[in-house]
Amino acid sequence: MIKAIEWLDNRVRILDQTRLPREEVYLELDDEQSLASAIAELKIRGAPAIGVAGAYGIALGALKIESEARGEFLEKLSGVIGMIAATRPTARNLFQAVDRMRQVAEASEDVEQIKAALVAEAVRIHAEEARATRKLSQFGARLIKDEATILTHCNTGPLATTGYGTALGVMIQAKEQGKRIKVLATETRPLLQGARLTTWELQKVDIPVTLITDSAAGYFMRRGEVDCVIVGADRIAANGDTANKIGTYALAVLAKENNVPFYVAAPTTTIDCSLASGDEIPIEERSGEEITHIQGVRIAPEGTAAANPAFDVTPHDYITAIITEKGIIKEPYGEGIRNQESN
Ligand code: MRU
Repeated sequence: MIKAIEWLDNRVRILDQTRLPREEVYLELDDEQSLASAIAELKIRGAPAIGVAGAYGIALGALKIESEARGEFLEKLSGVIGMIAATRPTARNLFQAVDRMRQVAEASEDVEQIKAALVAEAVRIHAEEARATRKLSQFGARLIKDEATILTHCNTGPLATTGYGTALGVMIQAKEQGKRIKVLATETRPLLQGARLTTWELQKVDIPVTLITDSAAGYFMRRGEVDCVIVGADRIAANGDTANKIGTYALAVLAKENNVPFYVAAPTTTIDCSLASGDEIPIEERSGEEITHIQGVRIAPEGTAAANPAFDVTPHDYITAIITEKGIIKEPYGEGIRNQESN
């Protein structure tokens, strides 16, 4: 299994995803600033992986605080937490992890205990995310037929989840069950997570994958060459509306128009019941340079304006089912999501 992130006794090792697939470069980070930059620059990315990285970032920051007085320590820790929380706004998993870390810090009495508890909590968050993705993959694989062609968007495997994968985990599990699946992977402009990372991960597990441009998805659906679409999620609102990589909404509309089932796979740490609908999900706006340039090479004329929302929201009525580690939710989503959150 690819290790996207690892806790190495007071340091964190990450596989730099911006350099894949050309180079497999591991970075060892020992302070919260470099971890926060790694998250913001997408060296580590994908909603569950961002949550795990954020928790480790807080643990690293806590270990570096020298104050021994609890009040002063907690004040400095709050600065660390604020910096980590400001890295990326959309993935719910980051804020789930940050809240857990904050609560653990407040529950312990002396500074040494707090530091140990924060490290232990970050390691626990990592293990729980990994377990959740394995479990949800097992539920999701039930929806996949033998010889299915699955269309997916962005990257949702071990790199994005630090575990088994969400959408890609479902595919890996289906293959492990002996189902002869094939995958159509969208390249996922602008940062090409599909072309660079999904193809790389699927090749490693021997699942046949064909790379297509984002705009070719409708062509293949209309020809009847797609049996289902499976994507991950960055945040799911209480009514089932789902934020995921930009382009997901267009895929969902095309899927509905062409009678292709559209599945979302995510751990429950991605669910945010404090938001009534997807309209309230904060959408990250990234630099226009990610569009005017491809891997550092300018492709648009100097002075071209570019708008770069990193995610979009798919309304729940385009979603056939949401797959989590607690089972499969279908309409009415509000009720199913509430039940999963509370058990
Ligand atoms: O900007 P990214 O690469 O972090 O976006 C990732 C995605 O949109 C994934 O599809 C998502 O996090 C869900 S599954 C890991």
